[in-house]
Amino acid sequence: MSTKKVKLLKISEPQMGYSLDFGNTRVKAKPFIKWAGGKAQLLPQMSNLFPPKDQIGRYFEPFLGGGAVFFHLQPPKSFLSDSNHDLVELYQAVKNNVEELIHALKPHKNEPDYFYEVRAQKPAALSQIQKAARFIYLNKTCFNGLYRVNSKGEFNVPFGKYKNPAICDAEGLRAASMALKHATITNADYQSVLDKARPTDFIYFDPPYHPLSKTSSFTSYTSDRFGEGEQKELANVYRELANRGCFVMLSNSDTPLIREIYKDFNIYEIQATRAINSKPEGRGKITELLIINYYWATKRRLS
Ligand SMILES: C[S@@+](CC[C@H](N)C(=O)[O-])C[C@H]1O[C@@H](n2cnc3c(N)ncnc32)[C@H](O)[C@@H]1O
Repeated sequence: MSTKKVKLLKISEPQMGYSLDFGNTRVKAKPFIKWAGGKAQLLPQMSNLFPPKDQIGRYFEPFLGGGAVFFHLQPPKSFLSDSNHDLVELYQAVKNNVEELIHALKPHKNEPDYFYEVRAQKPAALSQIQKAARFIYLNKTCFNGLYRVNSKGEFNVPFGKYKNPAICDAEGLRAASMALKHATITNADYQSVLDKARPTDFIYFDPPYHPLSKTSSFTSYTSDRFGEGEQKELANVYRELANRGCFVMLSNSDTPLIREIYKDFNIYEIQATRAINSKPEGRGKITELLIINYYWATKRRLS
């Protein structure tokens, strides 16, 4: 762990009242896939803690997943990335070829035999658009919207038995495509942020969470492991960006390790409801942490 002293950044109130997010230019876009750890339900609690638009440079979200925070903020210039290659290809298709994607989604059916046929397809034999349509189709119709692959990289979540899943939400996809127009989307490890971020850029980290107990870990986004060593490495990256003068926000679970490695920063508690978790202790209301490296110059309530 780096021992360099941390400087917290001071933020002044925005000129016009409390408009803490990114203004009126937003289209009505939201995540177009279900994703474990999705932040949509937490946005009301998080939105008071985002730095104001008039004080930040560019936006980085390097653990993109479903991108709930990106779609909420819709900053003018963003760098979005994730280590899941198929997910990133999907975003690129939504951004660049949304009409072809909508067209390719239309024939997909919510039927078990058809689901297993599509699940058995080899993605390498499909075009980029067909792959993207298959990703959305499986995501909308599989059990709990989980993304899980076996050791050969084959998707292996069973059929979800939903009555009427929105397999092709054409309007939602078009809105997402518009919101993504000024975003650069790459398949990269989160550490690549270090090469690009400059003072006043805003970085939101939403890594795989540190497990609450040894048995409650949910780490099946990709085959990559995100253990204690990786959490500490991420805290070093966080600290380096903070010392560079970036605004940095990070979500994680409320565990002694996370409180310890971010103790030099501002730690807020928020209440979440866990939906995707097979262990009983992970369901229901649970406290999570939101960690920022800035503070407001004037006293204000951040609840
Ligand atoms: C908690 S999810 C993000 C959820 C997202 N904020 C949302 O609202 O849906 C974590 C994401 O990090 C990605 N990931 C895991 N390890 C990574 C790494 N080393 N670098 C970049 N992305 C990684 C996973 O593929 C997953 O999409």
